Amino acid sequence: MEFRHLGRSGLMVSEISYGNWITHGSQVEEEAAKLCVQAALDEGITTFDTADVYAGTKAEEVLGRALKGVRRESLEIFTKVYWPTGPGRNDRGLSRKHITESINGSLRRLQTDYVDLYQAHRFDYETPLEETLKTFDDLVRQGKVLYIGVSEWTADQIAQALKIADEMGFDRIVSNQPQYSMLWRIIEPEIVPLSEKEGVGQIVWSPIGQGVLTGKYVPGQQPPEGSRATDKSGSAMIARFMRDDVLARVQELKPIAADLGLTMAQLAIAWVLQNQNVSSAIVGATRPEQVRDNVKAAGVKLEAGVLERIDEVLGDVVERDPAKTVSPQTRP
Ligand SMILES: NC(=O)c1ccc[n+]([C@@H]2O[C@H](COP(=O)([O-])OP(=O)(O)OC[C@H]3O[C@@H](n4cnc5c(N)ncnc54)[C@H](OP(=O)(O)O)[C@@H]3O)[C@@H](O)[C@H]2O)c1
Repeated sequence: MEFRHLGRSGLMVSEISYGNWITHGSQVEEEAAKLCVQAALDEGITTFDTADVYAGTKAEEVLGRALKGVRRESLEIFTKVYWPTGPGRNDRGLSRKHITESINGSLRRLQTDYVDLYQAHRFDYETPLEETLKTFDDLVRQGKVLYIGVSEWTADQIAQALKIADEMGFDRIVSNQPQYSMLWRIIEPEIVPLSEKEGVGQIVWSPIGQGVLTGKYVPGQQPPEGSRATDKSGSAMIARFMRDDVLARVQELKPIAADLGLTMAQLAIAWVLQNQNVSSAIVGATRPEQVRDNVKAAGVKLEAGVLERIDEVLGDVVERDPAKTVSPQTRP
């Protein structure tokens, strides 16, 4: 495994992180979840990403159990707050009340006294930014949270938060968690340049396009049994890539991966890691073999010619519009 700084902070994270959205507490049984976490640890992954909302809070519990007994100092545990965790109107968003209640629930479920990174899972238009940032700052002072990050915030929102933090002396955001892959490059025009300047690192999600970039979904054929595209909790989100034009172009990446002696998953993960503003690529897995396959992307260097071949193959199926970074206008 290779390691990078999380943005400009002193925290080191593994280039490849393990995330448990859709899998733990939902798509896969607890035993499979534990085997994946064990494979991640065996392969040198130290960074684990979850969220209060995943599997209706069950994902944090599963991760807490799977990491039990592992030396806490050897791990970086990331979680998030924003999406609903209960039926009440205050069980969501980034108010002082919900953040304070949610971190306590997360710590209990994860069986830890602190999380290394606490992330605002979207922007909350219904809470003053000062209220959110002050509450995060309080959690840092209380030692419940070591670093603060955001997820799917626009460049303007990140810039606004950094300005307030600097003016008020609050802890600064060190990371953003956006979707980023060969197919989804919307952070490149605005978010990456701002983040490079401000010392914010990207911890990118769905680097394999939720499995699509492995090439296992073939145009005109049924998705393989048990894959995310067949799972009721996963199929809605993966749908944006399950189009014949996208799947056909992805098939054409196979010779590029083969020429480099890489699997398709490794090529996809290595691709996001070529961007030096990326601190870590968070991969998901339903089976330990997938984790063992994916980690081999750490440290892989892709030459400029390879990147050009990839761009030629994918052509106009790549999404680049920065306006696709959005948070709900009202709380979900
Ligand atoms: N901040 C946010 O809003 C947000 C949103 C989404 C995700 N995330 C984070 O990012 C993490 C990763 O997201 P993701 O799970 O969508 O990422 P991904 O790594 O692009 O996709 C993971 C899925 O692809 C398949 N897969 C993985 N490796 C494979 C391999 N070597 N060969 C074949 N299939 C393979 C598996 O699904 P199957 O076996 O079922 O096909 C696996 O669950 C999440 O767990 C979460 O921590 C954050």
